[in-house]
Amino acid sequence: MDRFIIEGPTRLEGDVEIGGAKNAVLPLMAAALLTRGESVIENVPDLQDVRSFSLLLETLGATCRREDHVLTIDTRGVTASEAPYELVRKMRASIYVLGPLLAAHGAARVSLPGGCAWGPRPVNLHLEGLAALGAELALDQGYIEATSTKRLRGGRFRFEPSSVGATANVLMAAVLAAGESDLENCACEPEISQLATALVEAGARIDGIGTPQMHVRGVDSLDPIHHRAMADRIEAGTFLTAVAVAGGHVRIRRCEPDHLEAIVSVLQAMGCEIDTAGDTLTIEVDRRLQPVEVVTRSYPGFPTDMQAQVMAACAVADGTSFVTETIYLDRFTHVAELRRFGADLRLDGSTAIVFGTEQLQGAPVMATDLRASAALVLAGIAAEGTTQVNRVYHIDRGYERIETKLQALGARIHREQY
Ligand code: UD1
Repeated sequence: MDRFIIEGPTRLEGDVEIGGAKNAVLPLMAAALLTRGESVIENVPDLQDVRSFSLLLETLGATCRREDHVLTIDTRGVTASEAPYELVRKMRASIYVLGPLLAAHGAARVSLPGGCAWGPRPVNLHLEGLAALGAELALDQGYIEATSTKRLRGGRFRFEPSSVGATANVLMAAVLAAGESDLENCACEPEISQLATALVEAGARIDGIGTPQMHVRGVDSLDPIHHRAMADRIEAGTFLTAVAVAGGHVRIRRCEPDHLEAIVSVLQAMGCEIDTAGDTLTIEVDRRLQPVEVVTRSYPGFPTDMQAQVMAACAVADGTSFVTETIYLDRFTHVAELRRFGADLRLDGSTAIVFGTEQLQGAPVMATDLRASAALVLAGIAAEGTTQVNRVYHIDRGYERIETKLQALGARIHREQY
């Protein structure tokens, strides 16, 4: 296994380029299954989750080829319809193949994803939404078995609560269903708008993209997907927050500032100076952060995927901050690890009360999930002394070469095997 060794504290200075968004690429890869032929996705980050999803598509009979950051998926050989436990257990987003396989091939067998480090992760809305389109669903030995004897038909479904994954899955099924579908309380995350736009470019008919109500008129077939993935708003937010925690002056290039408004406004409230020019955000932090109140919400609210990182910033602020999680109520595995740096924080239900400490101290810590790991890396850069972040395979699922990008900004971080 790999771990990061970090020597701190260091200020961050320089430029960093943001890569394509994992959470935009995975549904686009699944959407390739709705088509026969060669789909091409550009700006694909080199990440473990993308490799795992490629393996899943290959298990189904597709061929995936990657050159630089361009991924070509040839679906002409797809015959199988089973997503095995071994792959789904490593990556919950494997559930994305359910809707497309069902819509394009009339059957899908997908291992039921389990919970994860931050609690139960239900898929009821994925299943109920597909049932509303006429799918027959059963559970068999830990697998979801979905069939549709005839073509799926249009239907009406309301997502409650709003779900990114279920919206993607049901939307992908609805575009090939016979008739019209009304999808209500859809997720408005940019990754969903991007999926819908890519489907429209391939011939789908979808109204209401980017709003909670999408209306879909089913079509008989789609052309292959050709799309460039958007910049990763969580990677950009993580680098912004790294500068907030460690101090410094950094240009975050090739990002989409429109997608980062909630994150930018929280960091500005903490005293960071942030300017926007085209696809570049410049952040400057040269004094101690102010405390803040943050509540996670679905887009355009503050993302749950940035909650751990902003908590690392609160840990060094000059006062008491409150960080409330409303999407995944148990997503707090980083709290105990942050305490190992000397951070002073306690949990009250789904709110972390963070009493800012002037200087964190380096410590051996363990990554427990993707974004929690990022928070530990940020704390390590700001902490005095040596930090060891163990189990960085979590971070490799979602950040391409994070240590190289941080080194270029002056952080003293390296990877070693143990
Ligand atoms: C996606 C993101 C993940 C992010 C999350 C919330 C990907 C691959 N992952 O995950 O990084 O943290 O959005 O922004 O894009 N829910 C149900 N029933 C369901 C599905 C979800 O009750 O069938 C609930 C969940 O428990 C949660 C809420 O809906 O409380 C939102 O979850 P959802 O948007 O579905 O998250 P994911 O798509 O799994």
